Amino acid sequence: MGHDMDSQLAIELLGFVFLAYLSSVWYCWMTSSTPPVATPWAGLRKEVFKTTRASLRQVTGSIQTLAEGYAKPQSILPQEHIAWLIRQPDSRLSQWAARKERNAMRYLSLGGDHMETMALIGKVLNPCLQRKTNRIQMNTYDEIRASVDDTMGLDEDSWHETNLHEALQTIIDRAQCRVFFGFPLCRNKDYLFNVRRFVNCMGTGNLDVGQIPIWLNRHFWASLINVPLQYYRAKFMKALVPQVIECVQNFEHEDIELVTDQEADDFVTEIVKVVEHSGDGIYNKAPEYLAEELLLLSFAALSSTAAAGTHLLLDILSSPVYMKTYETLRKEAAMVFSTEADWGDQVTLQGLVFTDSAIREGLRQNPLQIRGLLREVMPASGITLPDGNHIPQGTWIAVPFQPIHMDERFYSNADEFDPVRFARMRAEGDRLDSTHTSETCLAFSYGRHSCPGRWLVSQTLKLLIAYITLNYDVQLLDKRPLNTVFADTNIPSRSARISVRRRKRA
Ligand code: HEM
Repeated sequence: MGHDMDSQLAIELLGFVFLAYLSSVWYCWMTSSTPPVATPWAGLRKEVFKTTRASLRQVTGSIQTLAEGYAKPQSILPQEHIAWLIRQPDSRLSQWAARKERNAMRYLSLGGDHMETMALIGKVLNPCLQRKTNRIQMNTYDEIRASVDDTMGLDEDSWHETNLHEALQTIIDRAQCRVFFGFPLCRNKDYLFNVRRFVNCMGTGNLDVGQIPIWLNRHFWASLINVPLQYYRAKFMKALVPQVIECVQNFEHEDIELVTDQEADDFVTEIVKVVEHSGDGIYNKAPEYLAEELLLLSFAALSSTAAAGTHLLLDILSSPVYMKTYETLRKEAAMVFSTEADWGDQVTLQGLVFTDSAIREGLRQNPLQIRGLLREVMPASGITLPDGNHIPQGTWIAVPFQPIHMDERFYSNADEFDPVRFARMRAEGDRLDSTHTSETCLAFSYGRHSCPGRWLVSQTLKLLIAYITLNYDVQLLDKRPLNTVFADTNIPSRSARISVRRRKRA
């Protein structure tokens, strides 16, 4: 009943935001605007209200606009400029100045200072994900195993249909909540429900408010999202803060090294440890503050990993029968995991070369952001691009991720999902695992602000694909269901259904 009311609230809210959007569209049509820069616009055509219509087209037709921008780039930069772009300091090309508007971050009710948050998140993520993956890997596996069994069922005798995106969201929410907040919070249904609602509100705020013209009082439209956002945030905090307090007390009253050794297998412990050990006094030690940082981390992690998992499984299940993709991945998993302990071993996981290649290929074909490396020009005098073009202060520049991933100069048969593409390249000597970013592989962005969560993504997706292929038969799809592109986001089908059956194993 409570959940029905929440769904109702969400629907009304979305309706309201849609109305807000329509009114902004109307306003755009009634006013003429000029491009912010004296350089050509991608998507500009000879038509009435040409700039307004180009802006509107990019909300739903971004891929096409990007392709145009790619051929005749100005504020959409060509691939050749990426090396130059990532060398520019934030004082010249600012990520945050663009993000706070594009993702509406400055309008949403969130605590904390952005720069500090990013620095802290980096300090928590890096040791946990790069140095202690064994510790969290067993937990991730244990939660994936339990949640896949619950969600996909144990019936070996009959097939049943399930909504792929919903199933993966449930599984990944649990697996990542286990890593972030530990056991038993990751199994608490109310807690998971509130986390999910918070993440959805943030997503709606990011996407919808981020599309409303800046001069159309974004504060007002954001306030509509801020009501449920605050509500779910408060519920989330109510459950999480006591756990953070307990963890802080453990550190203060017991032998720190002992606690560190025994319990540093979730991010709650890791964040407390990082802050306790930082001698510079930069970080606020209040449990509410630390819980808030974890809340933001959940937002960055949960939906993106579920969306990437959905894209990937759709790719695998709709790849041509002759490629035997599902079978190949199953065989590889069977070879790599011979004991239960193998699932927690970081070195064993590295044996999943085909699976890793399929993950990287899935992200190549379907990056979640079709445009990225978005930056705002900061100097009052503007900046000059390597090709001599001058861009004035306040302009946004960006790079078209999707067209670069589809460029035949970098990938042969780029339109084709080739799950073993990167495994082949690795055999030829290229070091190309799924976490490796480059000027031609941009799904996790590139450079200073590239995604610090990609090791967790890679670990989670490998364990997930291996567990599903080993334990389930899944019917292949005749055709890959279409994605939806909204603004810069490439959303996989949310209605695609798959037929699954628990595999009979000796
Ligand atoms: C498949 C899943 C994911 C994809 C495709 C992805 C992609 C990205 C991209 C493209 C960016 C750059 C955004 C920008 O420039 O505005 C980014 C940033 C970030 N991601 Fe991820 N991400 C994923 C999962 C995660 C996870 C699981 C975490 C946390 C554990 C995470 C944490 C972050 C953080 C904190 C940033 C901000 C970094 C900064 O601004 O310096 N992401 N991600």
